[in-house]
Amino acid sequence: MTKTFDGMELTRVGPGTLMGELMRCYWIPAAMSSELVRDGTPVRLMLLGERLIAFRDSAGRVGVMDHRCPHRCASLFLGRNEDGGIRCIYHGWKFDVVGNCVDMPSLPPPGFKEKVKAKSHKVIERAGVVWVYMGSCMQTPSLPAFEILDMPEDEINVSFIQRDCNYLQALEGEIDTSHFGFLHAGHVDPNNLAEDDPIMHTVRNRAPEYHLAETAWGTQYAGYREAEPRRISWRFGNFLFPFWTQVPNGEFGSHMHARAWVPLDDEHTMFVFIWWKRAVSAMSLPQPAFKDGTPIGGTSRGNRMLPNTTDWLGRWRLKDNAGNDWALDRAAQQGNVIYSGIAGIHLQDQAITESMGPIVDHELEHLAPSDQMITRTRRRLLLAARALRDKGVLPPGANDASVYRNARSGYFVSDNHCSRQEVYAQQLAASVRPLSTLHRAAE
Ligand code: FES
Ligand SMILES: [Fe+2]
Repeated sequence: MTKTFDGMELTRVGPGTLMGELMRCYWIPAAMSSELVRDGTPVRLMLLGERLIAFRDSAGRVGVMDHRCPHRCASLFLGRNEDGGIRCIYHGWKFDVVGNCVDMPSLPPPGFKEKVKAKSHKVIERAGVVWVYMGSCMQTPSLPAFEILDMPEDEINVSFIQRDCNYLQALEGEIDTSHFGFLHAGHVDPNNLAEDDPIMHTVRNRAPEYHLAETAWGTQYAGYREAEPRRISWRFGNFLFPFWTQVPNGEFGSHMHARAWVPLDDEHTMFVFIWWKRAVSAMSLPQPAFKDGTPIGGTSRGNRMLPNTTDWLGRWRLKDNAGNDWALDRAAQQGNVIYSGIAGIHLQDQAITESMGPIVDHELEHLAPSDQMITRTRRRLLLAARALRDKGVLPPGANDASVYRNARSGYFVSDNHCSRQEVYAQQLAASVRPLSTLHRAAE
């Protein structure tokens, strides 16, 4: 059981909080590059409980800064994005993307613009994503060395979806693998599946065994069950510091991806999914079907999105939410057409984690042996955050981004005489990998 105090420390992300300081040691995927247009409308960004604006200047550079003008705190969201900077509409002070005051027309020359600076953050664009570093370390970290970020940009897809709950319970839905055979596939009778269906092993044995391990990037689980005589079905998944996951819903050999659960504030999270277009995964395979060709209920693709608004929390929201009980169809649930009654794997996960309330009260939980990945991950996060606070020790990945390079997840079947480590190393060696990684291995 996680104690209430630990739960508080794990879930609060604002400035000065234990976890908030840990997260400020990393680059944070904050927006799609396409959201910011040259000299276009600034975007309100909520990130780790801070209200920021993002804009793209006339030269295409992106600025991310506190939304309050350093003069008298009017919101720069209302500002004019023109000629290489954002100009506050109150007294006309203008700031470039790194926060320098470049014009102060409300004062007679010489003014004092050299003495004023907007609180801006470092920004990088990669893979069609705007990344923000909100920390204050002397040395800015490198972007995480995920395999997917080493792939050519035109082979990468990105999507954002907001979730109305704390980042931790959203993230824990991803490393709680035993829910798959229920929430997503509780209505699937293995007799109705083709023998080689990827979910066959999951529904034939809904109570697998697990190996857990601490890794350089965080934690890893491997769910395993007998697939056929002397063959084992494996499903690997990862938690990666500070808020990333990799899930087993694709073939291990090509499943390059990363999934971030970025805290907007304590009660809202942005899911940022970056994946390789050519991976054999749930994103590229057709909708799962029974062996007679009928689609499996509840596995439809795509999400119904609301239009983005300019609200602090107005971006990338789903139409189906707590307001309509996530469009739960009781007839489909009672008829066992869809175990949950909710259409779509992502929406099922979204509904479950949002239904827990904005921040789960850990005192009310009864964690079981099948939840060990969750307890181990919470522990790892807490210990790393306390080591940072008490001893100044940088957490995994913050000073050595290469720890992520060999992180991979996915499913496969192998001979059963191998250990978790052996089977993982073998599969990784036989996988599609970015050219940069292969070059490094050859050096
Ligand atoms: S408050 Fe922005 S210029 Fe005065
Ligand atoms: Fe799920």
